[in-house]
Amino acid sequence: MVYLTRKEHFNAAHRLYKADWSDEKNEEVFGKCSNKNWHGHNYDLYVTVKGEPNEDTGFILNVKDLSRIIREQVVRHIDHKNLNIDVEFMQGIQPSVENLAIAIWKRLDGKIPAGRLHCIKLYETESIYVEYYGN
Ligand code: NI
Repeated sequence: MVYLTRKEHFNAAHRLYKADWSDEKNEEVFGKCSNKNWHGHNYDLYVTVKGEPNEDTGFILNVKDLSRIIREQVVRHIDHKNLNIDVEFMQGIQPSVENLAIAIWKRLDGKIPAGRLHCIKLYETESIYVEYYGN
């Protein structure tokens, strides 16, 4: 079994808050990420697919196809968008890096033509990232 990873990048704005909490409580729980006037992150997305190399090509799948699928299913919907407002698949979901990674998994699962989706690794900052393996 070989694990193949494609890296993509996007920028997005968000605000972490609960509407029924006070400003003080939102600030206490979410810190800077609860800023009322939004803020952005530069996200790095690593999508890992696992499988066996094809005998003829030596590829699990063509990375160009993988990149196209990630862009079509994920990046074009969220790049330079506000995750709270603009992104249909994030509606009603707290746009934390954890929830965003799960949502990205759901967008890609079943769309990979060869091999199987193994991991979504998503960096929100240089020092914070999450990994999601589908459960
Ligand atoms: Ni934030």
